[in-house]
Amino acid sequence: MVSRSALLALVALLAVGLAPVSARQLLDADEVEKAALLPNGGYKNDKPLIGILTQSCHYCPGRSYVAAGFVKWIEAAGGRAVPIRFYTSDDELHRLFNAVNGMIFPGGLTDIWLDDPYVIAARKLWTWAKEANDAGETFPIWGTCLGFQLLHILEANVSFPDLLVRTNSVAHASILEFTDAAAESTLFAGAGKALMDKMASPEYNITMENHMFGLPPPNYKKYPILEKTFTILSTTVDRNGIEYVSTAEHKHYPFYATQWHPEKPPYEFGMHEIPHSLDAILVSQHLANVFVDKARYSSHKPESHEEELVMLIYNTKPYFTLKDSVMDPSYDGPDMTYFFDSKTDVPDNALAAPHRLSTSFRNRVYQPNGDAALRSSWSEY
Ligand SMILES: *[C@@H]1O[C@H](CO)[C@@H](O)[C@H](O)[C@H]1NC(C)=O
Ligand SMILES: *[C@@H]1O[C@H](CO)[C@@H](O)[C@H](O)[C@H]1NC(C)=O
Repeated sequence: MVSRSALLALVALLAVGLAPVSARQLLDADEVEKAALLPNGGYKNDKPLIGILTQSCHYCPGRSYVAAGFVKWIEAAGGRAVPIRFYTSDDELHRLFNAVNGMIFPGGLTDIWLDDPYVIAARKLWTWAKEANDAGETFPIWGTCLGFQLLHILEANVSFPDLLVRTNSVAHASILEFTDAAAESTLFAGAGKALMDKMASPEYNITMENHMFGLPPPNYKKYPILEKTFTILSTTVDRNGIEYVSTAEHKHYPFYATQWHPEKPPYEFGMHEIPHSLDAILVSQHLANVFVDKARYSSHKPESHEEELVMLIYNTKPYFTLKDSVMDPSYDGPDMTYFFDSKTDVPDNALAAPHRLSTSFRNRVYQPNGDAALRSSWSEY
């Protein structure tokens, strides 16, 4: 039986097809009718906007940055990126939250102490997201690497040295050891057994780890709130046999966390350890689709078409940072990077450096005691 709305939509579509309307009218009619034609009736939008929380950067032409891989990752799944500055005013943060359909807490290089401005901004977005979901809205959050850690830090409300341990897993293409929960999880249920078997196999190593710290599974028991709120979907061991949680999803909210980097295989080529096989790309695309599709169930939207245009990342020109050494010299940075807001203390010639200076990030030493040293050297991808 054909539903009344589908029938109306069909009639409208035929009318649009027959009438000599202008392009602008076509666009409007298209948008209205598409909503009625969407599958399963649950979608609230079909062009989701995804906020990406920017991170501060030093020795770079801007006050904060976003790695372009995250932008392209969501674009491949039909989303569009909106940079959200962590230092923006509360009013602006809230306005943007109401305009986007989901958030990414990306991997990167920034302090994640509970009182850091970055964590404070993330906590606001995360709290609003919980409230929105509680109120019947759908608002997904994705955390990659440092974002994975951030989602756990926010939930446990403990400082990162309490939660994380040092791991030897920088530039490490590895595997996921799935838990029993993985097969039925939101993230992996649709991935297919064949691809999951490859993710779990050291003959493939298609999941890219790149971090100096990890969350050991026993810490889910040490902070029982984690066990109550997150389901561990996979663990991974580092080069020294230290086990850490590599994938988790929230039990009550559409919040997803990977310690590894699904966005890197299709979009990052500077670090030679990154896998680029078809299987690695399929894993990346699968997870982008799961996440961005959640965002289609969000009814948030910009206040106007003008606001939508202004907030899109397309207003910013990405730099080819793999070629031009504009990041902190010790940072094995993204291939392409967006920078936001000017920083007057950056010399003009910072952009002119011929190549990336070093890969010394890999050799950095973690100082477990001495907050000051840790603060200045804390970093995570
Ligand atoms: C988080 O912990 C701090 C103390 O470290 C406390 O002041 C604050 O109220 C806690 N926040 C929540 C939401 O529990
Ligand atoms: C995958 O990684 C493991 C552990 O690092 C290693 O032993 C194995 O040789 C790797 N597999 C391939 C195909 O490189």
